[in-house]
Amino acid sequence: MALDPLYPATAIEGALRAGRVHRRFFRHQVRIDKKGPIDLVTAADLEAEGEFRALIAERFPTHGVLGEEAGAGADPGGPSGASAPVRWIIDPLDGTTNFAHGVAFFCVSIALEVRGVLEVGVVYDPIAEELFTAERGGGAWLNGVRIHVSETRELVDALLCTGFPYTVRERRRRQVEVFAAFLGEARAVRRLGSAALDLCHVAAGRFDGFWEERLQPWDLAAAALIVHEAGGRLTRYDGSPLDLFRGETAVSNGWVHDALLTVIRRAAGPAA
Ligand code: IPD
Ligand code: CA
Ligand code: CA
Repeated sequence: MALDPLYPATAIEGALRAGRVHRRFFRHQVRIDKKGPIDLVTAADLEAEGEFRALIAERFPTHGVLGEEAGAGADPGGPSGASAPVRWIIDPLDGTTNFAHGVAFFCVSIALEVRGVLEVGVVYDPIAEELFTAERGGGAWLNGVRIHVSETRELVDALLCTGFPYTVRERRRRQVEVFAAFLGEARAVRRLGSAALDLCHVAAGRFDGFWEERLQPWDLAAAALIVHEAGGRLTRYDGSPLDLFRGETAVSNGWVHDALLTVIRRAAGPAA
């Protein structure tokens, strides 16, 4: 069945609205609270998610919403909106640590899932004004122009990106080992601090690969579809298909994927 065109339009509208919230607060005095010792939430995260939830409640009252900041307790579909046939997955501000420190690398990420299948993905960087969009089967786009992953064939020519979860202190050695191994294999490695945007940069052919050991569904959902539609490959570290709810993520242009997984497995040792 064809997708209701109002769905992708709503994802884009929601992302642009969240971007306006980001810009209003960015580099101004913004309230910052701690969810954990190094895990922040700002007034911008909360307002952006609240606005999106209000939009969905008004336009599609039966849809579920899984969002980082409010969970989904009050939504149709129960906790995490999981039993609603149509569910939105939103990270209202991916890159909160950057945002809180005035570093201009963050985005909003909005995905739409219909009966467990990702149909729409939108990621918006409100500072660079880059809008990444994808619909299943319809390619990946940046500001309306088709994008593709890179053609890089060898790890030694690859620019990679990674991230560290807020639980990094629990398994620091393993993650540092993997990082160190890539320093000996790739052209260079970056850690920019917004997984959704990092993945979109793989989709646009800027990065050749990305890995992170524990991401959340709202970090991944929209950008996973965008990378897939741009011709990229997404797996877990053992090469099995990416699972939004299990976090372990390896993403690439496809060409360097096996080499990426080999380095991760060799350096990380047995899966924990
Ligand atoms: C975080 C960012 C970061 C990644 C973390 C995420 P947040 O999301 O995507 O790059 O390394 O694992 O939790 O907290 O800024 O939305
Ligand atoms: Ca995030
Ligand atoms: Ca977030």
